[in-house]
Amino acid sequence: MVSKRDFLSITDFSPAETVQVIARARQMKAEGWGQPLAGKHIALLFEKPSLRTRVSFEVGIHQLGGFSVYLGQQEVGLGVREPVYDVARVLSGYVDGIVARVFSHQHLVELARHTTVPVINALSDLEHPCQTMADLLTISEHKGALEGLKLAFVGDGNNVARSLCLGAPAVGMSFAIASPAGYSLDADSLLQARQRNDSKSVQIHSMTDPHVAVRGAGVVYTDTWTSMGQEAEAEVRRRDFRGYTVDPALLSQAMPGALFMHDMPVHYGEEAPPGMLDHPQSVAFHQAHNRLHAQRAILEFILGQPTTLRQVRV
Ligand code: NVA
Repeated sequence: MVSKRDFLSITDFSPAETVQVIARARQMKAEGWGQPLAGKHIALLFEKPSLRTRVSFEVGIHQLGGFSVYLGQQEVGLGVREPVYDVARVLSGYVDGIVARVFSHQHLVELARHTTVPVINALSDLEHPCQTMADLLTISEHKGALEGLKLAFVGDGNNVARSLCLGAPAVGMSFAIASPAGYSLDADSLLQARQRNDSKSVQIHSMTDPHVAVRGAGVVYTDTWTSMGQEAEAEVRRRDFRGYTVDPALLSQAMPGALFMHDMPVHYGEEAPPGMLDHPQSVAFHQAHNRLHAQRAILEFILGQPTTLRQVRV
């Protein structure tokens, strides 16, 4: 049986592979790309809304010569209308890969376990690894070397924060997160991040004070306080996250010229004030556009191998 590569967590790429995929994304951006997905079909299985992820994946798949089949919230009913196992077995017979955005990361793990084709995480409650790859690409384009930089994340210890925390040490970056009490990144993720790079110069810290977190940071990152699926908590979260808005005053406490990043969509007036994405130090739109460039390299890495010819028995 041919082994497959899934990309469910940013840690599914080794540090060397992370660097390699970012470098390849830059190369494809500069020199163009071939048709490594020629004749391949990829299912996009989305349980949550999407703008950037869906469009960038569909466009990227087509640019690489492949075809995409979009399955939206109403269609599959992963684990509700049909068990994940059955969906996995059925899709394996139709497509060469699955890009899935799900509520439960466990469903993604189950999907990957029971399909014979690679599965790419397009956001789960636990991680958003494709976003992190685009973010690292963006930082490398603006700052040159990634090694030695510090990324400060201000806000919820959520999926975006976790993938960044685990991705940063793979490329030699330090990571600090400031969250209100009760919203910190879990201790296991922090420990796992520390274990990804034992260099003394790579530090992984969690704290409550955003002013301390941004000190010495070359990148200041924030995300929504209320992720998809947590809408019922929005009011409580708005109260609990008061003081965690990344505004020009907080950004000015980071390194001079520090990048402001946000994965979008933005809840203006909450994690960022209106106009913040047009701040001279903001690279948020560039970051959004890099989803396409990073994902082309991810797709090529995971699915670009030659198609295995199935043996025909007569
Ligand atoms: N943390 C956000 C990211 C959106 C791209 C969410 O999960 O809704």
